[in-house]
Formats: sequence, C-alpha cells, structure tokens
Amino acid sequence: MKQWSNADRIVAPSVLAADFSRIAEECSRAITAGADWLHLDVMDGHFVENISFGPAMVEAIHATNDIFLDVHLMIERPDHYVPRFLEAGADLISVHAEPEAHHDIARTLEMIQRGGCQSGIALNPATSLEAVDPYLDQIDLLLVMTVVPGFGGQAFIPEVLPKVEKAAKIRDERSLSFHIEVDGGIDPETAPAATGAGANVLVAGSSTFKAPDIGEAIRAIRDA
Ligand code: DX5
Ligand code: ZN
Repeated sequence: MKQWSNADRIVAPSVLAADFSRIAEECSRAITAGADWLHLDVMDGHFVENISFGPAMVEAIHATNDIFLDVHLMIERPDHYVPRFLEAGADLISVHAEPEAHHDIARTLEMIQRGGCQSGIALNPATSLEAVDPYLDQIDLLLVMTVVPGFGGQAFIPEVLPKVEKAAKIRDERSLSFHIEVDGGIDPETAPAATGAGANVLVAGSSTFKAPDIGEAIRAIRDA
C-alpha cells in the first residue's frame, strides 16, 4: 500500500453519507471516482447522539477492497474496542481527546500502534490543541472537527481554522510529520480555507456521495 505523507492532498469520502443498502457498490463507486482513503464514522449513541455502525461494517468494507481505511471512533471507552477495529482491517484509528470519551489517551494510542495500525487524535470544535499537546509527537494524524460530531450534512465552522494553523505551526517547529485532517462540512467551497490553514486530509460525506457526479466532486475538493 502507498505510504502517504502530509505533503499529499488526500480526499476521504465519509461512508456515513453512502447508501447502506448497497455499501460495497458505494465504496467501489467512491474508489473508482478517485477517493484516496475511505473515512468510516463509528458512533455509539453515548459519546455522540447518533448510532452508525461498528467493526462488522469495517470488516465488510475491508473484505471488498484494499483502499486505506481511516476509522474515526466517536465512542466512549475506545480502548475497550480498539482490538476489534484492528482485527477488522483499519489502517488508521482516531480516538477523541475529550474527557467524556473516558480513556487513557496514551495507553489507547499505544494499543493502536502495537496493533500495527496508524493512530490519530480527534478534537471537537470546542477542544483546544493544548489538551493533546503531550501526544503530538506520537500520532500519525490530528483530526480537527469542523462540525460538532454526530451527524453528516452540517455546516462547516470556520472558527476552528486557527486551531489548524496552530497545529501546522507546532508540527513544523518540532519537525513532526502528522497529517492534519478536517472533518465536517467540507465541499469545494470550504476546502480551500482548510487547506490554506494547513490541512491535507479532507473528509467529505454529503458533498461526495450525494453529489450528482462523485468524481467531479472529489476532484474539485482535491484541487480546491
Ligand atoms: C461527523 C462525522 C463526519 C461526517 C461528515 O460526526 O465525523 O465524518 O460524516 O459528513 P459531511 O461531510 O456531510 O459533513
Ligand atoms: Zn468523521
């Protein structure tokens, strides 16, 4: 599999916006259209007010193609479930930093890495970068939420962008190499502000799967 660096502009369609009744065809449709990664949103109805899918879905998607699977856990006690997502075929697992997720972040990241998987930390719009400063040298990806997590189709929150800029600055100062991913409300209109601030991984659900032409949508987001 290709080694991705933060110099790559990566578009990751979020499967949450796909038609679940035809999930394999939907994933193939995104891959054929030029998706770099697939973003898989796991929600437990506790950490966020929505329930999406779990490791069985990740495993089913992994079984039908070999694209990079970017798994975003919006769940309480992620440490408890990480082994199941490792087994399911995740290539990268991100866990939330908020205290409500109830886990020891360092321990969870270590568990992910020991499983041979890349690791990420996700920050809600209201969570500051300082909260995860001690882990920045340990992660492969920083996921900066540009909506309050829980649902697809919400409006992009531009007030989050200074956090992206700050993360990019710290990364350069410390010669680190993590990706910066933005997630929520990303489309060809909002993507330039995110990449301008320093994001290189663009998650896009509604603006890809629900677009009239998914290939054109992915291209427009990547070239934005
Ligand atoms: C929100 C999820 C997102 C969501 C993005 O809680 O983490 O990944 O699928 O959907 P759009 O692109 O429609 O905002
Ligand atoms: Zn997500």
